Amino acid sequence: MSREPLRLTTTGSVDDGKSTLIGRLLFETKTIFEDQLLAIEKTSTRRGQTEVDLSLLLDGLAAEREQGITIDVAYRYFSTAKRRFIIADTPGHEQYTRNMVTGASQAQLAIILIDASKGVQVQSRRHGFLLSLLRVPHLIVAINKMDKVDYSETVYQEIVDAYSAFSQKLDIHDIRYIPVSALKGDNVTTRSAQMPWYTGATLLHTLENVEVAADQNLIDFRFPVQYVMGHHNTQAEHGTVSSADTFRAYAGTVASGQIRPGEAVAILPRGTRSRVREVLSYDGPLPAAVAGHSVVIRLEDERDISRGDMLVRPENLPHMAQDLDTMLCWLGDAPMVPAKSYLLKHTTRTVKVRIEKLHYRMDVNTLSRVPAEGFVLNEIGRVELHTAAPLMFDAYATNRSTGSFILIDPDSAQTVAAGMIRGAVRHLSTPEADVTPELWARRNTHKAAVIWLTGYSGAGKSTLARALHQRLFDRLCQVVSLDGDQLRQGLCQDLGFSAADRSENIRRAGEVARLFYLQGNLVICSFISPFRADRDAVRAMLPPGGLLEIHVDCDLEVCKQRDVKGLYRRALSGELPEFTGVSSPYEAPAAPDLRLRSDQQSVDACVTAMIELLEARDLLV
Ligand code: ADX
Repeated sequence: MSREPLRLTTTGSVDDGKSTLIGRLLFETKTIFEDQLLAIEKTSTRRGQTEVDLSLLLDGLAAEREQGITIDVAYRYFSTAKRRFIIADTPGHEQYTRNMVTGASQAQLAIILIDASKGVQVQSRRHGFLLSLLRVPHLIVAINKMDKVDYSETVYQEIVDAYSAFSQKLDIHDIRYIPVSALKGDNVTTRSAQMPWYTGATLLHTLENVEVAADQNLIDFRFPVQYVMGHHNTQAEHGTVSSADTFRAYAGTVASGQIRPGEAVAILPRGTRSRVREVLSYDGPLPAAVAGHSVVIRLEDERDISRGDMLVRPENLPHMAQDLDTMLCWLGDAPMVPAKSYLLKHTTRTVKVRIEKLHYRMDVNTLSRVPAEGFVLNEIGRVELHTAAPLMFDAYATNRSTGSFILIDPDSAQTVAAGMIRGAVRHLSTPEADVTPELWARRNTHKAAVIWLTGYSGAGKSTLARALHQRLFDRLCQVVSLDGDQLRQGLCQDLGFSAADRSENIRRAGEVARLFYLQGNLVICSFISPFRADRDAVRAMLPPGGLLEIHVDCDLEVCKQRDVKGLYRRALSGELPEFTGVSSPYEAPAAPDLRLRSDQQSVDACVTAMIELLEARDLLV
């Protein structure tokens, strides 16, 4: 049996049969459940705790219990011969987003219940969205109450189709569907005789066998220091210390990754180096410190380390920044006060924080973004924060532990928000480069901008770019051009034309364009850039209005006839695969800043239209 319990959460509204389902799971496995509870009690007693300490097994937001927030999450334990389980059971109504976020924050798997007799509800979609946002690695959609719909395969399939159509828009990697009846016991722990058409696994079988080892981040070693222990301290609490010397030891829980004695560490934020001398647990020295375990680490030499510092591998550093781009879920009963200073608790560090900018609030029912002045209970949105001291973090997408935090109201000492870090906010100028695009603009005869030409191969992008470049040069502008064919000969010579390679190609082009932009240039970019998401990603690298998207629109038939490079002929004969317009799609901009009809307008007319656009946007003087 694996050592670690599987942490799961259930969502669904009261009527979906959640309690019945949990009840059945507990009931049908209960003999072992009792043994298990006894074992947990024993461990706690052995460690000298008077109460059963479950907090170590619970979620990353456990801190907020200490902070006095009332969260309605019941944790239940059960086990089978194969695996142990901890279920975070949370009420499912909209007003309980807070509970759900808490329950799911550390869950490895979530069960979304859908009542077969009602079909996919708004609620089911909200839960899917929240679970994808929280990056719960495995989802099971349990289509319940199959007995009420005569165990109909058609009803089941319709729900599967409807939910799959929706979930494709979310970032979910593993989603499975199981038709069950919690009431009658079909497909919960035993196969249903009523649904011979379903050939998949039962719910319990899936829970027992879902592969979670790969979900843990075992690569990025992160050890936030929780306590610094002096020599005496160490001796007293850990009679197992092997060598009597004066070195200090550092206690904490490994957030991710692993490390062994003898390996090098860097100590952040200072960046000083040392080596691991020993890893200790309650029971003595360990061969390694591994993600999720509470250990004491002793280093080779005495260092000035305090709580909130982080041990990492010198060649694998987290981000360090004070400006954070986050998704924030408001959990406080009192609304957010944007002007107020809150406390941010991240791993073992607590720092003062200011709300810098509210980008938007998510309408979780429609997945649309709405403007926000502040958040109230259960609202979620994109927020920029500025911390009083740097944080060492990873993006939540790669590390749920070092990528999450909570906000505390210093007046009430209540937890008021849970957050996920998307990354560091990118500044337009670094502190050491004081010549900002604005300063360049004051000296030049124009402001900086990226002029992005998108369209089919042969639409005339490079021709128009060359003519525009000349026109801007004549107007004494600082101008730079980047062209697909050119970049692909050098910077991007390792890339082909798959969707992933094209994305990477456009990302690199965007990054280069951004650097030129920061140094005051008008940057003309000509790339097919067939995917909307890639073009949007470039726009996001620049400040609002920094990118002008120009669709060089040309009838595909005209491009094929022109066929300057003979590529269409080769693509049409099947010799060139994944050719845009022939065997690879082109997503035209829905609302470009300018659309040129290069098959109808002259080169001169097109260039004039672009100059007029620049003038209209106040970019040229
Ligand atoms: S993009 O799709 O990644 O934006 P990019 O603009 O850099 O493409 O490069 C397109 C150029 O590569 C075309 O002008 C053409 O000369 C060449 N090319 C070669 N193979 C392909 C292909 N399969 N699809 C599109 N362009 C191709």
